[in-house]
Amino acid sequence: MQLKGARIVLTGASGGLGQALGERLAAKGATLLLTGRNLERLEAVTVQAGPGHRCMQADISTPDGITAVAGAARDFGANILVNNAGIGGFGLLQDQGAAGVEQILAINLVAPIQLTRAMLPGLLAQPEGAVVNIGSAFGSIPFAGFAAYSAAKAGLHSFSEALRRELADTGVHVLHVSPRAIETPLNAPAVVALNAQLGNASDSADRVAAEVVRLLEHDARRAVLGWPERFFAWLHGVAPGLVDRGLRRKLPAIKRHAAAAPSITEH
Ligand SMILES: NC(=O)c1ccc[n+]([C@@H]2O[C@H](COP(=O)([O-])OP(=O)(O)OC[C@H]3O[C@@H](n4cnc5c(N)ncnc54)[C@H](OP(=O)(O)O)[C@@H]3O)[C@@H](O)[C@H]2O)c1
Repeated sequence: MQLKGARIVLTGASGGLGQALGERLAAKGATLLLTGRNLERLEAVTVQAGPGHRCMQADISTPDGITAVAGAARDFGANILVNNAGIGGFGLLQDQGAAGVEQILAINLVAPIQLTRAMLPGLLAQPEGAVVNIGSAFGSIPFAGFAAYSAAKAGLHSFSEALRRELADTGVHVLHVSPRAIETPLNAPAVVALNAQLGNASDSADRVAAEVVRLLEHDARRAVLGWPERFFAWLHGVAPGLVDRGLRRKLPAIKRHAAAAPSITEH
């Protein structure tokens, strides 16, 4: 996929990975429409990306937000959509409120599907296009303490696979990237402490952004980032009982840290 001259809509551009992706994509010669809710941070990221880029404030958990971004994308002449916006969701399901669970599903799963649907006619009208979905390793290794988040990211993974198959006779490519933990504000201190105790490695946002850009340039279809996460994603597919057993041993630590996690409404 050619990034020089590409016109890219990037959601979650005000966040940790979004900012790094914006800088990397701009450096490749793409022009960006950066979206998020925090206008001050978006404007700072837009300036950092260089001249010619634009930003817009939109809450993509609402139908109005989706319509606004899709309309702006049409006027912008977008040929690539990067569904990067997301929220975390650490906590035991029994401690999460109905509204919190709804938010996890709305932003991590429903919004990327709806935004892709709304932007598809414009993407299909371009000679070459792409949809990039930022999932999570937890979409392939469903993790205790992240039930709704894992479900949303697994749903997004299936969406990417089905959409790619549906668009196989078009010029629109679909890439699904599943990073492991990234050092961004998405992770509450309780998640950072859990990862430290379990020995879960994390990557810098810039490292993940560089990998996403490399995968997109090479027309890759899917990738789980990091080792041993790639191995455990495979293992969950072929012998989920072994993953059950491994996570059972970690459950006391997960429960202890989950008790210190902020309520989802505080994210
Ligand atoms: N951090 C990790 O450990 C990790 C690991 C694997 C995958 N991921 C995935 O990587 C992606 C980027 O996350 P990150 O780590 O960069 O998190 P982050 O720093 O918290 O950024 C999240 C971004 O999503 C945007 N967002 C959240 N709710 C939104 C809404 N309702 N409408 C519009 N924008 C909204 C935020 O915008 P505002 O702040 O402007 O509202 C922000 O730009 C997410 O999809 C996440 O699930 C993260």
